[in-house]
Amino acid sequence: MKKPTLRVKRAPVLETEITVPGDKSISHRAIMFAALSNGVCKITNFLEGEDCLSTAAAFRQLGVTIEHPEPGTMVVYGTRGQFTAPDQPIDCGNSGTTMRLMSGILAAQPFTTTLIGDASLMSRPMRRVVEPLTQMGARIRTEGANGTPPLVIEGGPLKAITYKTPVASAQVKSAILLAGLYAGGVTTVVEPAASRNHTERMLEYFLVKLRCQQAKPMVGGGPRESRISMLGRQQIESRDFSVPGDISSAAFWLVAAAAQPGSRLLIKNVGLNPTRTGVIGVLIRMGARIREVVEVVDQGEPCGIIDIKGSRLRGTIIEGAEIPNVIDEIPILAVAAALAEGETIIRDARELRVKESDRIAAIAANLRAMGAEVEEFDDGMKIIGGRKLKGAKLPSQGDHRIAMAFAIAGLHASGETVIEDTDCVQTSYPGFEKTLAKVLKGNRLLQRNTPVISNLGTRPARRGKKSAKS
Ligand code: S3P
Repeated sequence: MKKPTLRVKRAPVLETEITVPGDKSISHRAIMFAALSNGVCKITNFLEGEDCLSTAAAFRQLGVTIEHPEPGTMVVYGTRGQFTAPDQPIDCGNSGTTMRLMSGILAAQPFTTTLIGDASLMSRPMRRVVEPLTQMGARIRTEGANGTPPLVIEGGPLKAITYKTPVASAQVKSAILLAGLYAGGVTTVVEPAASRNHTERMLEYFLVKLRCQQAKPMVGGGPRESRISMLGRQQIESRDFSVPGDISSAAFWLVAAAAQPGSRLLIKNVGLNPTRTGVIGVLIRMGARIREVVEVVDQGEPCGIIDIKGSRLRGTIIEGAEIPNVIDEIPILAVAAALAEGETIIRDARELRVKESDRIAAIAANLRAMGAEVEEFDDGMKIIGGRKLKGAKLPSQGDHRIAMAFAIAGLHASGETVIEDTDCVQTSYPGFEKTLAKVLKGNRLLQRNTPVISNLGTRPARRGKKSAKS
């Protein structure tokens, strides 16, 4: 069968307001915590991307009733963390989050489960969860070459541990904390720098007590160790949950507008958890004019509006403790870097080699095909910005974020850009093409009743001088 492609051409100035679908990381966790809880939980604005649907299907296989009464709503009947043995391997599709987080829960069940996935997931490293879960007493093994799936988990009683993760990873941290819920005693995870903290926030929202500490900043900066401790066997109380929009999906539009002088974009109902908003910080450093306003924090996750005006971008350095905060946004930030004046250096991002594709190689190859100058490092890249990008035929590598990042690059390139094999976009962003069409229709005045953030990107008027044009 012919695989779908996405064709894009240079965009006019963008001027519109949009929303983005529910957050992927939070949607996974909402299903998981609801399933672990002691009652019925209604989840709204759930991301119906393939990854999160894999998590829902996995819990159904484990005997959990999950209703889907309308698009974006899931009603989960919690089973207090007791599940039934699946009669077949659980297929996690393309989703590393499903496989790694579920391994923590399955490590404590009185049965054996096998986790498998698509070709990309079957080549991703799983020792990072096998190692701590084994220390907790699980019998868990990888059957693929070099620590890759199938992951076979013979569950049983677990003991609490203190574990220092070598790399900041929310997936590893979450797998240990989920296993720790079943263990007697206090489970502690220490990370070299803070990764996204949705699991901790959701545990607290579901009334589990935790202790989260972040080391004081060292003189001269540097990474700050983060430590989470949790007493096991606490009750997860069922509660309804509304998922905020995904800032990783918003990031594509942020860059589309940021790199286009004269553009203006408002993104509403988007998650603004500080462990995820690194992309805004990086873009501001690059000269983008962005404001974020938190409107609600009532379910443990801050959520609000991002308002952005296009401008000329300049290169920057992205490295160290900032990396976990922008790990999923590097493909689109690399596109921003190619559109910016000057050099951008990305380091300490070796993790990108083992995401849904080798993202360092994929970004470098696609940017070069569009005429950009890129030097690849083992743990990142250097991008010399400012060259005019030209349209090209680009492979997605079956990786949703590569496909979408380069669709945005195509909006800033001459000629036509064709992204091949774009089925993968469904992983995290069903509706991407529809929003692309809406954004391109553009030139629609922002609605008058929107709480527009005043003075965006303008300097205060000085006496005798006109204020900067907005
Ligand atoms: C995720 C954590 C990140 C991220 C992934 C989703 C999560 O992975 O890249 O897309 O939901 O916990 P790592 O924690 O492995 O860096």
